Amino acid sequence: LIHLLSVEGLPKSILTHILDTATNFVSLNDREVKKVPLLRGKSVFNLFFENSTRTRTTFEIAATRLSADVINLDIARSSAAKGESLLDTIANLSAMAADIFVVRHSESGAPYLIAQHVAPHVHVINAGDGRHAHPTQGLLDMFTIRHFKKDFANLTVAIVGDVLHSRVARSDIHALTTLGCAEVRVVGPKTLVPSDMASMGVRVCHTLEEGIKDCDVVIMLRLQNERMSGALLPSTQEFFKSFGLTPEKLQLAKPDAIVMHPGPINRGVEIDSAVVDGPQSVILPQVTFGIAVRMAVMSIVAGNEA
Ligand code: CP
Repeated sequence: LIHLLSVEGLPKSILTHILDTATNFVSLNDREVKKVPLLRGKSVFNLFFENSTRTRTTFEIAATRLSADVINLDIARSSAAKGESLLDTIANLSAMAADIFVVRHSESGAPYLIAQHVAPHVHVINAGDGRHAHPTQGLLDMFTIRHFKKDFANLTVAIVGDVLHSRVARSDIHALTTLGCAEVRVVGPKTLVPSDMASMGVRVCHTLEEGIKDCDVVIMLRLQNERMSGALLPSTQEFFKSFGLTPEKLQLAKPDAIVMHPGPINRGVEIDSAVVDGPQSVILPQVTFGIAVRMAVMSIVAGNEA
């Protein structure tokens, strides 16, 4: 694995290897070993052309724990704001001896473009591109599910909400189907579920009740207002009434079902606060596991594994 641009097309063996490697880093973190020297002397450049709290910070923590030097380019104050092109920005940062670019961009495909233009020893990790893919989120979601449910073979997983604009949903679907999840459902109004979902091997449900009945894992998605035109934008009250996850509706899932959300959360829009903060929520453990998963991804693409 030279770059990590998408989960799509990666074989089960590579996904499992990343999750297994991350397990080692979780146990390292448990023992409060804060740093390992796997990326000593390497420079990781975080390039977030779109806002982020979780992904950017956990990549920074992960790179620091691998002993890399971390450079966070402040895009708003960079010369990209003066019109410097993406590839010129990359060429100049490459001249500063970058080893890994972690890239988030509103344009689907931007990390692919970068990967085509960097030198062979430089690695690109997609930290979310448009509505296309968010592979490390998909992987940390798989890590979380495996941690709490052990095996994918008998699981029913529901992915609920604004599937249309969600790069997380696409990465989760590819990962879940590759890892052998028994049933993946996507759940949302017709306007927010893309037409190619059935061909991705998932069951499409247009009511929350049908979608989460007897499932083991419920992954809630944020309404991505920033990617919607006015006509598509549902009223938040209407959306919550039909697709908002409340403690009452969660009772339709299995009693031991876990609730996940990639964040940021819109409380009272796609999910009730009582569920976010309730006993079945594993939303904050997802964030913590993101550190170990990103440590695993960076060490594997750099070829410096534990
Ligand atoms: N899940 C996720 O990508 O969150 P951020 O946008 O805060 O990075």
